Amino acid sequence: MKDWFLAQQAPAGVFVSSYPDLTVQHLQRPGRGAPGGEDGRALAERGAVGADPEHDDPALGADPHRNNDFLYRENDDRGFRCPAGAHIRRANPRDATIIGDARMHRLIRRGATYGPPLPEGVLEDDGADRGLIGSFIGAYLERQFEFIKTEWVNDGNFIGFPGEKDPVAGHHDGTGSATIPQKPIRRRLQNLPSFVVTRGGEYCFMPGLRALRWLAELKD
Ligand code: HEM
Repeated sequence: MKDWFLAQQAPAGVFVSSYPDLTVQHLQRPGRGAPGGEDGRALAERGAVGADPEHDDPALGADPHRNNDFLYRENDDRGFRCPAGAHIRRANPRDATIIGDARMHRLIRRGATYGPPLPEGVLEDDGADRGLIGSFIGAYLERQFEFIKTEWVNDGNFIGFPGEKDPVAGHHDGTGSATIPQKPIRRRLQNLPSFVVTRGGEYCFMPGLRALRWLAELKD
């Protein structure tokens, strides 16, 4: 199991989505059911994850005090920079205008990749076993992980797109769509496949340090 945790092998910012061979780069590849070329790039960079290639600022990205310091209602209410349906905006809408209260559904996340990364520029699967192990840590399964998966990742009601799911982590059957607000007219990416193949999942109990200390001090 230890060998699986090869997190260091993926350069910072490269997110290896899941078995068998899906990295965000794959969204750019034409001909796998996903929109390729320009559409694929738009999906990968902005529509799917929520990156904003037009306002890229490497210095900001490298600054831990600033790179997570942003809001939606305040800086991008209409979703021109990060679409309401993009993964990061669904998974944590922050202050965005949504149905419900985002603060009730926060999660702690930790991720690790396993398997050898594909060489730079290679998009063909070489058959190696690789993917992502994600830990979603919370105190209340129903209100945190379960809620986010069901209501925010696999539904769009809370942002006013009832027919749309998270383009990255949502469960798609090849008929899904993702809307990217832009001027003069919004863009809609069609026929999205599922980009993530889930190999397994487990609910685990993680006692706090105080509980561990208490257990360690128990006498029989
Ligand atoms: C294999 C599937 C997934 C992939 C590839 C993925 C990818 C990502 C990426 C690239 C980010 C942005 C990280 C950053 O810029 O720091 C992100 C953020 C996030 N993801 Fe996922 N994710 C996946 C599944 C999930 C699931 C299932 C959930 C919850 C149920 C989730 C919850 C979150 C949260 C809460 C954030 C933080 C957003 C923020 O703080 O603004 N993700 N994810």
